[in-house]
Amino acid sequence: MNKKTVLTGITTTGTPHLGNYVGAIRPAIAASKNAELTPFYFLADYHALIKCQQPELVKQSSLEIAATWLALGLDTSNAVFYRQSDVPEIMELTWMLTCVTAKGLMNRSHAYKAVVAENEQAKDQDPDKGITMGLFSYPVLMAADILMFNAHQVPVGKDQIQHIEMARDIASRFNHIYGEHFTLPKAIIDDNSATLLGLDGRKMSKSYNNTIPLFAPEKKLKKLINKIKTNSLEPGEPKEPDNCTLFSTYKAFASTSEVENVRKLYAEGIAWGEMKKLLFEHINEQVAPARERYDTLLKAPKHIEEELLEGAKKARAISKPFIKELRKAVGISTISI
Ligand code: TRP
Repeated sequence: MNKKTVLTGITTTGTPHLGNYVGAIRPAIAASKNAELTPFYFLADYHALIKCQQPELVKQSSLEIAATWLALGLDTSNAVFYRQSDVPEIMELTWMLTCVTAKGLMNRSHAYKAVVAENEQAKDQDPDKGITMGLFSYPVLMAADILMFNAHQVPVGKDQIQHIEMARDIASRFNHIYGEHFTLPKAIIDDNSATLLGLDGRKMSKSYNNTIPLFAPEKKLKKLINKIKTNSLEPGEPKEPDNCTLFSTYKAFASTSEVENVRKLYAEGIAWGEMKKLLFEHINEQVAPARERYDTLLKAPKHIEEELLEGAKKARAISKPFIKELRKAVGISTISI
């Protein structure tokens, strides 16, 4: 059987929240148990430096993200779970790819263009204000992450599709010049996975500051769920479940029959306080066992480190011979006498 390689990276800025969990982490953990796939999941710590220049935050986030994935039962006997910075071949490949990447291609990157557009809005401002070469050429680093392991499938959010297309372009260019070395990756967008809404009803996102941390202590979880915005309908008044943040959040954690039951409660006029209580209990029940493992892991981070080093070993068993092949392909090698 030819196993498909699935690869995705998690930028190590911030603490995982419920939105990350239902949108990305939960499906990735499920895939880690699928024997027909070889998943590569990594902490994208070099990507973190593009967005965050606070060393303590980058470090803490790496720890929290690794602990989260392990606590949720990532199957590291099947999946390769590593830190990007533990695989130096990725950086070497980044340069090789940089040298075949058209600057014009990078000029079209949404991530970079968004910042330019913001600068252009402000009068008398250099359009490149605050734009580092890291931000500008970040799609090349991402292409190296993917091509290093010849990933077939890359599960990502919609905002990342362009980067996967760029990785394909870059891979084709390299293959054209130096011969067929790279598999062309495909973006996988999971339309079934939910996009969670945040406390204020907008998409749950760190940049909106409206998140609920996945492993917030029980009391805090309750407090935050109580803060979710609702309309001002009184208890007893029938309520509309669709377009309700509480309902859509519940849906992301419940079975079809549970959802149908709650739909009835809305029609019967459940009080917002009741619904919040129900939602808290439902989510808490699902995350509590993993939260306990998470807390234990954070108290003994040695185990996390061991897992990551083991993952890096597996990753480098592939990247080391591959970079050797690529060096040869581009003409970087010892002098043959
Ligand atoms: N840039 C991605 C994000 O912000 C994270 C990432 C880094 C990634 N390298 C990757 C995702 C490689 C998929 C494949 O979400």
